[in-house]
Amino acid sequence: MTVLHNLERLVVVSNRGPVEIKETPSGVSVSHTVSGLVSAVEPIIEATGGIWIAWCGRKKRKPGVGHTWPVPRTEPRYSVREVTLSASEHRDFYLGFANDCLWPLCHSFIDRCVFNPDYWRSYQLVNQRFADAVAADWREGDVVWIHDYQLALTPAMFRALRPEARIAFFWHIPFPSYDVFSILPWAREILKGFLACDNIAFHSPVYLDNFLHCVSWLLDLEVDPEAGIVRWEGRDIIVRALPIGVDAARFIALATEPAVRQRAEAIRRSIGARFLVLGADRLDYTKGILERLQAVELFLERNPGYADDFTFLQVAVPTRTEGKAYRELRRAVEETVGRINGRFGEQWRVPVRYQFRSLNPEYLVAHYLAADVALVTPLRDGLNLVAKEFVASRIDNTGVLVLSPFAGAAEQLTEAVIANPYYPHDVAEQLRFALEMPREEQARRMRAMRENVTRYNLTHWWQSILDSLAQTLGGHLRLSGL
Ligand code: G6P
Repeated sequence: MTVLHNLERLVVVSNRGPVEIKETPSGVSVSHTVSGLVSAVEPIIEATGGIWIAWCGRKKRKPGVGHTWPVPRTEPRYSVREVTLSASEHRDFYLGFANDCLWPLCHSFIDRCVFNPDYWRSYQLVNQRFADAVAADWREGDVVWIHDYQLALTPAMFRALRPEARIAFFWHIPFPSYDVFSILPWAREILKGFLACDNIAFHSPVYLDNFLHCVSWLLDLEVDPEAGIVRWEGRDIIVRALPIGVDAARFIALATEPAVRQRAEAIRRSIGARFLVLGADRLDYTKGILERLQAVELFLERNPGYADDFTFLQVAVPTRTEGKAYRELRRAVEETVGRINGRFGEQWRVPVRYQFRSLNPEYLVAHYLAADVALVTPLRDGLNLVAKEFVASRIDNTGVLVLSPFAGAAEQLTEAVIANPYYPHDVAEQLRFALEMPREEQARRMRAMRENVTRYNLTHWWQSILDSLAQTLGGHLRLSGL
């Protein structure tokens, strides 16, 4: 007999929330945040309704679990339960353990990892706060969907409070190989933390494989890689590689809007050059922006014929600006932009334009449409949504995507031009190849990639998560709203 599980409510749990709440002299302001996680998860909770438990950027003298906020404020579609942090937790949990330890470790930057017991203590404490918040809001029929490396311990802490809960987990960043992950002094605790879920998913089969090696070597667990099952404390946990898709229909609709197309033309006019190459990323060292600029410099050096025809525009979205590594990176990037423009610019023309700002979706799509080439060359990236969004927006099948093989998206966008970000000579070479690619070849590649992003879109991703959860529970799942 087929069992049909009705899921009544979706409870999303992540550190970064979809809104940022700030106290201003004229009252509280609520604005939208920029993050790959948020762009992927928000359309789902908007469709299903539910509650999102998250930190909304506020530091409090007495941190804890705060109010719920309707989102959007007028005609709300879901609500956000705010979890606040103290200034020292922000330093030790967020900037410290999450972003100076797990983030560089998982992106295989082991020299950047800081192992500090105070950071670890704070990480445990904040993860417990999130677990308590989930338990307080939880009711029978909920599906709890916890996200990412900042909250790896929350599943086990929440399971201890509500053993019968259905918990899914998505790990948004790379999962490194055993020899890298085992460097972490708390590697076993982190694994046990999210093994408390019913199902766990990653962006790529490579990360899934790394995870399975880690659990079998570090915890001596029984693993069935064929079936995608890990046995832990008498439970079968389903593990899957389920790469996120983009809301392709939304990007297509935006790319069709006359206002967005006019804006794209305005960007082209203001640039003036014949070729526009675009980079758009959070200003993070994993994104390879500095290395990309070096490649652009090399390109200009080797191809003087392009001097009058070429503009590289880097949009660098501010992120983790209180972190030392991020402040240093910003300085280095801005110095490099200055140096390149000093070398190759003329008084009326600069080859590199740089903007330190975030773009709203309309403006972002206008940039995607204005560019001839998107340079998406992270040193390591869980997936990279920019690559998929660029492709989804190119409704006329023009334009070229130059992509790093170290972005999870490269496994799906196989018709992209692949360039090794660690070797600027290769990126410079592939950039030239992309700029000189005939229209028919551009269209052939773009069409194939567009087929991929429209078929494996966001709804497909969410449905695969539900299917894998259904497998754990036995039967089918139905969630109202989808
Ligand atoms: C990546 C992570 C997310 C994170 C986002 C922004 O996409 O996977 O978990 O929210 O970066 O970083 P932030 O530190 O601002 O939350």
